[in-house]
Amino acid sequence: MTTVYQKRRAAVAKVLKAAGGGIALLPTAPEAARNRDSDFAYRHDSYFYYLTGFSEPDSWLVIEASGKSTLFCRPKDMEREIWDGIRLGPKAAPASLALDQAFSVEQLDQRMPELLANQPAVWFPFATHKGLETQVDGWLNKVRARARLGVQCPQSQHDLCGLLDEMRLTKDAHEIAILRRAGKISAGAHVRAMQTSAAMLRQPVKGGAREFHLEAELLHEFRRHGAQYPAYTSIVAAGANACILHYRADTAELTSGELCLIDAGCELDGYASDITRTFPADGKFTPAQRTLYDIVLAAQEAAIKVTKPGKRFNDPHDAATRVLAQGMLDTGLLDKAKHGTLDDVLASGAYRQFYMHRTSHWMGMDVHDCGDYSEPGSKARAEKDAQGQTVMKKPSRILRPGMVLTLEPGIYVRPAKGVPKAFWNIGIRIEDDALITATGCELLTRGVPVKADEIEALMRG
Ligand code: GLY
Ligand code: MN
Ligand code: MN
Repeated sequence: MTTVYQKRRAAVAKVLKAAGGGIALLPTAPEAARNRDSDFAYRHDSYFYYLTGFSEPDSWLVIEASGKSTLFCRPKDMEREIWDGIRLGPKAAPASLALDQAFSVEQLDQRMPELLANQPAVWFPFATHKGLETQVDGWLNKVRARARLGVQCPQSQHDLCGLLDEMRLTKDAHEIAILRRAGKISAGAHVRAMQTSAAMLRQPVKGGAREFHLEAELLHEFRRHGAQYPAYTSIVAAGANACILHYRADTAELTSGELCLIDAGCELDGYASDITRTFPADGKFTPAQRTLYDIVLAAQEAAIKVTKPGKRFNDPHDAATRVLAQGMLDTGLLDKAKHGTLDDVLASGAYRQFYMHRTSHWMGMDVHDCGDYSEPGSKARAEKDAQGQTVMKKPSRILRPGMVLTLEPGIYVRPAKGVPKAFWNIGIRIEDDALITATGCELLTRGVPVKADEIEALMRG
């Protein structure tokens, strides 16, 4: 049976062949020290894992246009395996990973010039792995040194990232199955955090309910379902902290009458999920919170409606921004007398005082996944940016089945002159992950309620 990794490697080889032949080199990620001799938990390079399903450090993949694939990996080593864990080793790798051959990574410098010899082109990821260009230069110099023996050195170098980014943008069935499971686990974690918040405020605990208490519940739920890591640092933001976009779970107390914003998702088998929910710490929205919450939810619903094949990447953002901006005018966050109509607000960008980020990003192996946000092959057009400067922009990407993006509108109200006090320090974001299907989109993360009434009902229960 052909594995998904073989299929993906074959697709790379096909592109190499169509480009006139060549060879692709791809290292995995290095290990990173956390302190003294303790490392961060190891995370493979996403491109490398996409083509191998192999997550040991010190590994390299080589794909030739002929379709031949070679792995370099750590050699078996009884002493190191006692301390650090079992290594697959080059002997077992070809059968285990469906590769043509494998060597010890200790042979990399000797064998790479041999693999590069007489190849017309070399492909490797540009500007992503520190020192890689220098390493490739060294190998190419060794090939060139054999020119008098009639050995040809690759004449061109290409960035492997563009090719792999394009492949990774459209998720295959294997990836979609994992993304669905990751979304489900993360949704369960948000449910658990909401329930914990309500329970801790109903029966106060010594020292109070803190952001880190909810973070602990998220991590517990991720891990107990087999997810290996959080896909990014969890945000658990009590009250005004929600207005800090890159806040992380800290020690602030969750109090009655205030909201809590959680932006957290697990990484399962190398795939991310990314959910935000905002809920009242004690389970009951105040009227002002509810007003803004319903605007953000309506903005997300408008975005969902245009998240379908044939629409463009920017369409959900534009749809959400219209609803948010109208809501800002209706509630007095933006003074109509000063800012004018909806169209005026959209043109001036005044809504950015309360909504300063985009609505979507691609999601997949990386939470902010790779993939061109503009439509390949399209022509750049002159447009005015927020400062009124003319910039050349390509039309955004046409959405197609298999693409996965987030839908995450928000409103963040920092205290300011002219802003109604009732809304000060309220920060709300609602975020789900959408898979483009043949006719629309499938929300992968709706295992956690999103409507205000349903959140209140869950937290009462
Ligand atoms: N959690 C990161 C993001 O929402 O983009
Ligand atoms: Mn996101
Ligand atoms: Mn997020």
